[in-house]
Amino acid sequence: MTILTLFPTQVYTSALQRKGTPGLNHQLLKECRQLREDDGAGRRWSVKNYPGGYTSYGSVHRLQGISPTFDLLRRKLQRHVAAFAKAVEWDLEGRELAMTDCWVNIMPRQVAHSLHLHPLSTLSGTYYVRVPAGSSGIKFEDPRLDRFMAAPPRPAQARPEHKPWVTVAAAAGHLVLFESWLRHEVTANPVAAERVSISFNYNWF
Ligand code: NI
Repeated sequence: MTILTLFPTQVYTSALQRKGTPGLNHQLLKECRQLREDDGAGRRWSVKNYPGGYTSYGSVHRLQGISPTFDLLRRKLQRHVAAFAKAVEWDLEGRELAMTDCWVNIMPRQVAHSLHLHPLSTLSGTYYVRVPAGSSGIKFEDPRLDRFMAAPPRPAQARPEHKPWVTVAAAAGHLVLFESWLRHEVTANPVAAERVSISFNYNWF
């Protein structure tokens, strides 16, 4: 008897670097909060699209080209992006996966980021700058969910690969990478302290 596992969905998680990132995170946090101060257009965009929180997604979304600190983060992400591409066996035909967008997300208490995917991108991910104890992880949805017809439910203790939703814990200094078509959300931050992350998209050129 053989059961094949076909069409897997890969989600990559790792610490950015083995020796830790307190200095980098301190500087990134400072710049994220400064950006919120300076970016009036982004604050207005967030009122409509990210209620209670701040994101620079609609205003300053190519931070890797503006801030040397964000560009340093981009360079540190490169080996992880290469490892992901290898794990999913992408043949890039001699082209390169390049960061196209990189933006800030600040989530105070009760702020949520509803279910979405990242259209027009190949690879997406998030790096966690500040994750207060008890704040939300990133929740992924089974991309086949809309085709489940008479599928029986799974018990709470089912293996993660059999669950329709899986939450991956967030931790400061860690990152998560996934293919951009994979829908995900961040549920409301239940704690008083701000959760700060940097999200990014890649495409192959
Ligand atoms: Ni996202």
